[in-house]
Amino acid sequence: MARVLKASEESIREGAEIIRRGGLVAFPTETVYGLGADSLNPEAVVKIFEAKNRPYFDPLIVHIAEMEDAFKLCLRVDARAKALMERFWPGPLTLVLPKRDVVPDLVTAGLETVAIRMPAHPVALSLIRESGRPISAPSANLFGHLSPTEAKHVERQLGDRVDLIIDGGRCPIGVESTIVDLSEDEPILLRPGGLPLEDIERIIGKVKVVTSMDRPRSPGQLKHHYSPRTPLRIIREEVFKVPEGVRAGLLSFKGSPARGGFAVVEVLSPSGDLREAACNLFPSLHKLDSLGLDVIYAEPVPEEGLGRAIMDRLRKAEGLT
Ligand code: TXA
Ligand code: MG
Repeated sequence: MARVLKASEESIREGAEIIRRGGLVAFPTETVYGLGADSLNPEAVVKIFEAKNRPYFDPLIVHIAEMEDAFKLCLRVDARAKALMERFWPGPLTLVLPKRDVVPDLVTAGLETVAIRMPAHPVALSLIRESGRPISAPSANLFGHLSPTEAKHVERQLGDRVDLIIDGGRCPIGVESTIVDLSEDEPILLRPGGLPLEDIERIIGKVKVVTSMDRPRSPGQLKHHYSPRTPLRIIREEVFKVPEGVRAGLLSFKGSPARGGFAVVEVLSPSGDLREAACNLFPSLHKLDSLGLDVIYAEPVPEEGLGRAIMDRLRKAEGLT
């Protein structure tokens, strides 16, 4: 089994040493746990793909701890990118920018662009600083499965495939970073996430939202991503009844009293706070998924603020979009 150590100066130092030697370290960020390797070492980066069973056409995010590293890795950091970095880094925002040659093709899946972000988690930042390397890290789950927001989720999915898991408790935001492509004139939202689109548009103006009908520019947009093993259906009916003989769980937004017949109910936010709901989304799904239910029904949430990221993950878990 993997070694799991509580976050501390010592465990971070050990994690940094493993990164420098080309190993894999799972670590907490403010969004989800990442599965990290030295971005500049292709042999280390390969291990990420192997551990996750991730297809090589799916590029990785590069995590940095200092603003100046963005300039070392990206060919052009234009005024829009600078404005967003200054306002929202460290934080749950990933920018896609033209890359420099130092970034290995394996990291970007051969693309001319690189996805880059500065996480707002003290453990992640210390690990990057201490290792002295940019760290490539996808979410620390098997490809296509639920993202991990606690160390035990990582342990369950990736167990002995990582050299060290640093346990920093629960991730405070709980959904992945928002990804904006700034490599061309028109900014494009590739993935709704922990930073609301509204906040981004306040700084750089209109951002184009690509729907699943468009070409998947970001493989995170593939359907059947973020999937529990239990089938998941979004409730679209006004009045809903669990079919006879079906053992169903409910992922409820505020805990509507009107819905009966469920074996178990997980409430995302009793007060209807979308931030709280996003934070509880993956933990609740992990829990429901572990109960051997026939089906999980999910109530839709309003598509504003973090609600956009929640609905994106639910639709992908449903796999119908
Ligand atoms: O919050 C997060 O972003 C977490 C934590 C660990 O930082 N990481 C994460 O990584 O969600 P991952 O690999 O699960 O998702 C990254 C997404 C992928 O869907 C990938 O396709 C997209 O970023 N991506 C990476 N590089 C890209 C590029 N050059 N162009 C377009 N999309 C890119
Ligand atoms: Mg992922």
